Amino acid sequence: MKVTRSISLAASGDNGLGLTHPLDCNAWLIDSGEGLILVDAGVNLDNLRIEEEIAADGYRLSDIRYLVVTHAHADHAAGVPHFLRRTGARLVADAHEAGVLGDQPLLDRTMAEYIEAGLYPEGFSFPGAPAGQIVRDGERLRLGRLELTCLVLPGHTGGGLCLYGRVDGKQVLFAGDVLFFGGRINLLSTFDSDLLRYRESILRLEGLSVDALFPGHLQPVLNRADRVVRKAADGFRSFSIPPTLL
Ligand SMILES: [Fe+2]
Repeated sequence: MKVTRSISLAASGDNGLGLTHPLDCNAWLIDSGEGLILVDAGVNLDNLRIEEEIAADGYRLSDIRYLVVTHAHADHAAGVPHFLRRTGARLVADAHEAGVLGDQPLLDRTMAEYIEAGLYPEGFSFPGAPAGQIVRDGERLRLGRLELTCLVLPGHTGGGLCLYGRVDGKQVLFAGDVLFFGGRINLLSTFDSDLLRYRESILRLEGLSVDALFPGHLQPVLNRADRVVRKAADGFRSFSIPPTLL
């Protein structure tokens, strides 16, 4: 579903616009004019629906050059091996998340806990994948007319890769599960979620000008997204915890 001239929503579950499988995250497709960047890959339970969405917007899977995974949670990354196979794209991740994605025993262990908790269906598996490119904080990702800055913003997880830059004349942030509509965050009691690192990440975002926010869940914010950043930062600045997603 086209959201702006160059940005499409390729997937979105019930914690969002409900476009594709209920457990999918928001997956964003960015058109550089010379190839596409797919941000996150969904939960791997209905890849065909996502492929249909991409085709409905007039795009070809073979034009996806980069698959950027924001973090190694199943709703964002279990579909990675499928979309790597289908596109030939290069998998881009930060070092921490690449480490988790490459550690199948760790993925199996954490998935068993999530299934036990009823968050994923019985028999669900999260296949890992090796990253083709590990990016550092501040590194640029260039494709066609796009130049996006990679921001590693830990807190929701130990890594957390966000993309920031100019798209369609606006300063946009692809935020993964770091920040959402309404100034919400997504703090978890999992092995690599961290409140104080989260605080640092959100306060750091305040130093950027953000017009539009494309998050991993809920709806996007197409203008005045600075206010969303400020709301979360205000919560941390008063030594409180901003409202969380779940
Ligand atoms: Fe997540």
